[in-house]
Amino acid sequence: MSLRISVIGTNYLGAAHAAAMAEFGHRVIGVDVVASRVATLNAGRSPVFEDGLEPLLRKHVQGIAGSTDRLRFTTDYDEIADWADVHFICVGTPQGDDGSADLTEVRSVIETLAPRLTTAALVVGKSTVPVGTARTLQQRLDAIVPSRERVEVVWNPEFLREAHAVADSLRPDRIVLGAQSPAAIDLMRRVYAIPISEDTPVIECDLQTAELIKAAANSFLATKISFINAMARMCQAAGGDVARLADALGHDRRIGREYLNAGLGFGGGCLPKDVRALAVRAAQLGVGELSDLLGSVEAINAGQRTAIADLAVAELGGDIRGRRVAVLGAAFKPGTDDTRDSPALTVARDLAARGGDVRVYDPQAEVGDGLLYAAGSVREALADAELVLHLTEWEEFRQLEPAEYLAVVANPLIIDARLKLDRHRWTAAGWKVVQPGRAATL
Ligand code: UDX
Repeated sequence: MSLRISVIGTNYLGAAHAAAMAEFGHRVIGVDVVASRVATLNAGRSPVFEDGLEPLLRKHVQGIAGSTDRLRFTTDYDEIADWADVHFICVGTPQGDDGSADLTEVRSVIETLAPRLTTAALVVGKSTVPVGTARTLQQRLDAIVPSRERVEVVWNPEFLREAHAVADSLRPDRIVLGAQSPAAIDLMRRVYAIPISEDTPVIECDLQTAELIKAAANSFLATKISFINAMARMCQAAGGDVARLADALGHDRRIGREYLNAGLGFGGGCLPKDVRALAVRAAQLGVGELSDLLGSVEAINAGQRTAIADLAVAELGGDIRGRRVAVLGAAFKPGTDDTRDSPALTVARDLAARGGDVRVYDPQAEVGDGLLYAAGSVREALADAELVLHLTEWEEFRQLEPAEYLAVVANPLIIDARLKLDRHRWTAAGWKVVQPGRAATL
């Protein structure tokens, strides 16, 4: 049966979640404080580059010809307060000054929504928060909600990946329901009736476990990436090949091949801050082993970026000042225009700060940086370059015809930091290809 659902915060997570809720048959109102984002979404357009999101918005946004009219967006909390059965919180929890998650936006949602709630409802957190937050939010709601019926907090973390946000929202790997009452679980099962009917596993748990599951999932993925990057260093030191090593590990079903791609390490709006926040929370709670482990994961990750910048300088004979360097990729990963904590941009900026004349090209992301020259094409980025760095593995870069660029660059030398280019094709065309962690003989 169709429910009335509000989704508060409509950036990457919220926009995809709101559209998915409409696709599941519910009536949905998305709320955001940014009026321009609301206007964009109400026109059926996505405020971010995300494959498949616009068609889904157009399918459901009210007023668009042929749509189901189930979805609309507003800046006005009064439109949702007594209307929705379930309020999803999808606002950001960026990294605060001390490394812990900054909960300003989550708290502000609660302070704005709670005084307006005069009927029973669920307030469902999707944002990543430090363990213990949901309980504190419940106490705050209990103190300020005027409703005599209970407004209950549920934690239902989101695991969607940027560039796959729609698919991950419609077909999640699992649904985690951290709740305090059987009635809340029942209502959440109605929210997700469609994926549950398609056999998506449901994990019912308490609030703290739900909060920890999200932090643990991202930290585990980050640990896998840092592990393989540390093994890449071993391969470099010993002369082995990390790509073959990862393939072999991946065939062990207990390990799995995913998140074992060595390269520049992890970036983006989630993994880095979630690892940091869990490390800080673990230290606060006296779990030093976990904060130490995650500290190593972060250190390895940061080291990958520095190592590639150092390698670039070394390949230029030790002095990068005034030398033209081309960087392919600025987004933190392919398929998105997001550059938050982007490994590619960190390396590009580092090289520019060391005096390099750095030109960056990315198919989607804006470079927007006084230090760097934003090229409009691969050809423009590569013009007269003495060194090319492949830093974000867009398919477009894998498809490049290396021979076409021989006459464009000053020196056909490329560092493939993501280990994704076909080295034999590039070498055959006359390029020198450097792939840290890969054996020259394979
Ligand atoms: C991540 C989680 O996957 C998702 O479940 C959570 O909800 C949000 O955080 P996302 O930030 O979109 O999603 O990025 P993801 O696709 O997981 O990649 C994270 C980073 O790791 C990227 O910078 C990527 O380039 C890097 N990565 C990934 C590797 O370096 N090697 C790999 O093998 C996999």
